[in-house]
Parts: sequence; C-alpha cells; structure tokens
Amino acid sequence: MSVAKIRLEHVRKEFEVRGDNGGAARRFTALDDVSLDVQPGEFLALVGPSGCGKSTLLDLLGGLATPSSGRILLDGRPITGPARDRGVVFQQYALFPWRTALQNVAFGLEVAGVGTAERHDRARHYLDLVNLAAFANRYPHELSGGMKQRVAIARSLAYDPDVLLMDEPFAALDAQTREQLQTELLRIWRTTGKTIVFITHGIDEAVVLGQRVAVMTARPGRIKQVITIPEALRSDSEDVRALPLFGEVRHEVWTLLREEVLKTQAAQSGPVHGVAASGASRQEAAHV
Ligand SMILES: Nc1ncnc2c1ncn2[C@@H]1O[C@H](COP(=O)(O)OP(=O)(O)OP(=O)(O)O)[C@@H](O)[C@H]1O
Ligand SMILES: [Mg+2]
Repeated sequence: MSVAKIRLEHVRKEFEVRGDNGGAARRFTALDDVSLDVQPGEFLALVGPSGCGKSTLLDLLGGLATPSSGRILLDGRPITGPARDRGVVFQQYALFPWRTALQNVAFGLEVAGVGTAERHDRARHYLDLVNLAAFANRYPHELSGGMKQRVAIARSLAYDPDVLLMDEPFAALDAQTREQLQTELLRIWRTTGKTIVFITHGIDEAVVLGQRVAVMTARPGRIKQVITIPEALRSDSEDVRALPLFGEVRHEVWTLLREEVLKTQAAQSGPVHGVAASGASRQEAAHV
C-alpha cells in the first residue's frame, strides 16, 4: 500500500485562554482526536460548523502550529514547520500591495533564491495558468477580488508545492466568480496532480471540488464522517450540479453538517436559541 501524502494520527490541539473576569487561564480544546489520511494527488474538501477547528487544522498542516498531542505526517515524516512543499491560500488575499501581480507571484521564488529572469518566467507561466497573463503589471488595488485570489493561487503554485492547503479561498467572491475559480482550480488540479486540502462553508463547493468530503463535528472538532463523491459527479465536461445525484449527495452532506451546526448554535446561545435554530431555512443552514 502506498504511503499517505498526509496522515493525521489522533491529533489534538489545545489553546490556553484567559479565564472570565480575570480568572485563572484554562485549557481550551479546539481539535480532539482527529485521524485522517489524504492520498497523494487527492482533492479533499473539509466542511464543519464555524469554530470547529478547520483553520486550526490547516495551521497544523502548514506547520504554523504544532499539535498538543498526536502526530501529523507528510510523506511519512512528521511536519516540523512551514516549508515550500506546502502552499497555503487564505480566505483574505494576502498580497503585498506594493508589488505587482507578477512580483507577488514571484515572491516565494525570490525568497528561494531563484534568479530574476527565471522567476519572472515562472511567475508569468502561473499567471497564465490562472488566466491573468494580461494583468501581470497591475497592483492589487487595481484588481478585482476574484483576480486577487487568482494571484494568491498562482503565488502558492509558483514554487511548485506538492500540497495546496486552502482555507475558504473563494468565500468572499460573488457566485459567478466563485464557480469560475472552482472550475479553474479543478483544471489546475487535474493538470498538476497536486494534493489539495480545501476548507469551505459551501456544501455545493465541497461536493463539486472534493473527491472526498470530510465533515467535522462541532467543537472540539473531530472527523464525523468522510463521504466519497461518486465518479459520476467528477465530470469536467458537464454541469454536475444539474444531476439528481448531485442533489442526493449534497443532501447527505447537508444532513450531517446541519446536526453539528445546530449543536454549535445551541452551545453558543443556550437552549432557547438552540430550538429556534432548528427551524432555520434550508438555505441558511446550507451556507453555514
Ligand atoms: N490562537 C488561539 N488561541 C485561543 N483559541 C483559539 C486560537 N485559535 C483558534 N482558537 C479557537 O479555536 C476554535 C477553532 O477555531 P478555528 O479558527 O480553527 O475555527 P474554524 O473552524 O476555522 O471556524 P470558521 O469556520 O469560523 O473559520 C475557536 O473556538 C477559536 O476561538
Ligand atoms: Mg476558519
């Protein structure tokens, strides 16, 4: 059997938080006993209620934080910190405002010591891949939200990481741009064979993008269930959203997630709100 690209073994993450009213600091469990394998070249989508620990998990995968217990292996070796084998794309476009699109994409290559001509060539190649070749010399404030997010994706691809870690990268975009970038990301994934872990609040987005969708529980986050998306929904030539099977799978994910969202709401606002929340419209609950 092949070695998992990423392996999470009983990962727990606690934070120390200040007590109420100046009380003693206490431990706060964000993630509890998370175990999961991601295969080489797999596209895994991760959904879960707000505050369940998704970004915390991505920080651990990125090496920006360390587990309180358990281990995370990349190619069979423990992650010891951030490295260029993993590219991270955040929800907010973390671009340098004083650099053009091209210079932003070239940034990681510059840090890695790649010469000017080569890094500009490579940056152009990745800008082209995200359909932004014509905007290479624009500054971030001259780009739309969707374009900025494309630049961020190109930047994370430019140093050719094996793994892309994406934390709600399309959440701030309008529906059309989001769908366009989903299509583009799938195309890039198909052509590059990268392993992608993609966090989202959108159930449709998870089902469209993921080969598997991992649903997390309310905090402390665990993996509640992992759903394998049927091959029939992985077509790049037809609108899979229109297939009845899409609706069925979407409903399965929605049902699992809704239970956890309701738990989160009940825990945050007491029993009265908890009951009221169960009457939330499907639309609201679907976009948690
Ligand atoms: N550095 C920290 N110190 C203390 N608590 C933290 C820290 N980082 C995150 N947390 C807490 O851990 C829990 C999980 O946070 P996290 O950001 O991972 O959630 P999330 O699933 O990404 O939520 P969202 O969907 O809203 O982005 C939250 O309750 C948060 O307050
Ligand atoms: Mg988050």
